[in-house]
Amino acid sequence: MSLRLGDIAPDFTAETTQGTINFHEWIGDSWALLFSHPADFTPVCTTELGKTALLKGEFEKKGVKVIAVSVDDLASHNKWVPDIEELNGVKVNFPIIADADRNVATLYDMIHPNASEKATVRSVFIIGPDKKIKLTLTYPASTGRNFQEILRVIDSLQLTANYQVATPADWKDGEDVIITPAVKTEDAAAKFPKGFTIIKPYLRTTPQPNK
Ligand code: BEZ
Repeated sequence: MSLRLGDIAPDFTAETTQGTINFHEWIGDSWALLFSHPADFTPVCTTELGKTALLKGEFEKKGVKVIAVSVDDLASHNKWVPDIEELNGVKVNFPIIADADRNVATLYDMIHPNASEKATVRSVFIIGPDKKIKLTLTYPASTGRNFQEILRVIDSLQLTANYQVATPADWKDGEDVIITPAVKTEDAAAKFPKGFTIIKPYLRTTPQPNK
């Protein structure tokens, strides 16, 4: 059965380009981004892993560890990494799981046989410090992901985790947020000292609480 939001992210132990990792131990008290790519030595993947390396500092500022996976073996990953570094001008500074036995791909339902029998699709799992799945995305092999969008949803997820707010369509860090329906209007002033606006009784906005 496929994984759903709120499920515990399956734990595993795997070989990676940074040694053997137990996933839950490796996450520790951080957030985690686990993302799959179809295969080593493929063009779109080479750009994605380079982009992730370039953005690692941005992920770290948000307390997010990043880890990639594909069903190639460690020798293949180690041969491919210098290409990623050369083409993107950056060190690959995060682990890539060698999932030749497809253990991780199977646990996370990353092989969609009607798309490809062998390769993983481009899955994204964002996992909280409680090890629960907070967000999933699935892209086909032919579409590289938008890593700015992944950073944006992390901002939204972390706000929701810490305050009783949601984020509207196309929201970006720094913009007003929505007070969740669980908060009664009579309690909103105490909870949101920066003030709030009632646009409709069910649509109340407030400045981003953590800015
Ligand atoms: C790629 O990663 O470049 C790719 C993989 C499979 C199909 C198309 C592109």
